[in-house]
Amino acid sequence: IRHLLSGADLDADTATLVLDTAAEMATVAGREVKKLPALRGRTVVNLFYEDSTRTRISFEAAAKRLSADVINFSAKGSSVTKGESLKDTALTLQAMGADAVVVRHPASGAPHRLADWVDGSVVNAGDGTHEHPTQALLDAYTMRSRLGRLAGLHVAIVGDVLHSRVARSNVLLLSTLGAKVTLVGPPTLIPVDISPALAPGIDVSYDLDTVLPNVDVVMMLRVQRERMSDSYFPSAREYARRYGLDGPRMRRLPEHAIVMHPGPMNRGMEITPEVADSPRSTIVEQVANGVSVRMAVLYLLLGGSNR
Ligand code: CP
Repeated sequence: IRHLLSGADLDADTATLVLDTAAEMATVAGREVKKLPALRGRTVVNLFYEDSTRTRISFEAAAKRLSADVINFSAKGSSVTKGESLKDTALTLQAMGADAVVVRHPASGAPHRLADWVDGSVVNAGDGTHEHPTQALLDAYTMRSRLGRLAGLHVAIVGDVLHSRVARSNVLLLSTLGAKVTLVGPPTLIPVDISPALAPGIDVSYDLDTVLPNVDVVMMLRVQRERMSDSYFPSAREYARRYGLDGPRMRRLPEHAIVMHPGPMNRGMEITPEVADSPRSTIVEQVANGVSVRMAVLYLLLGGSNR
């Protein structure tokens, strides 16, 4: 594939190739010499119109470990604040020889537009409430490395599904890889158009307590207050009481089940510190796996056999 814009861009074989390549990349991280020469002479641009900690830094680390040149572009402090359009910004980056553009943008669909304007590969690093495919890949990688497989796993994705690009990409990718997904949250935070918008065959529940004993993975989502009007925002205390994962709820999970969160977390709202910092939590591991997975994505798009 040339671009990675959506979880739907990956069929089962391609997704598995990315995960297997990421596993090989992870062995590099454990070596004394952490760098591979694979992308020497290539330029990766990180084009971020929205804040990010994990995604931006891990794409930078991934590109550098593959010996690519990295240009970090943040909309704040650029000519975007003078009104320059996404297209003109893209053409400027193109003129500077970008081989890959990693883009985060508040507008859903912005990476798809960008892909029409630049010659290089475009990677969607999160577009509005739409998709975040490399997060889904690193989540799948983490599940596979902790639980040994993806096919047949039951994954509950819990909370503010409505605003979650992480949920959307995970539903698409996990369905492709044979996992079963149940979306859990208050009715106001589950998209009403869930059947046509997401993959078929997913379940919806409004009752977290009944779902927990039956899952292998519980993925807690951040409540995205910045994407809600004040009148829409649920009371934090009420939300935590019904949908927050605390110690007693975590103990309803099967012994082997893991707890995930893409970060950043609202500690005390969707997840308590006791759960986030427990041995069942894979939150820090997800961040570490993100570097290997993004190395694999850049390698396969720019330098690998699939180009
Ligand atoms: N999970 C995630 O996308 O985190 P950042 O917003 O910090 O990149």
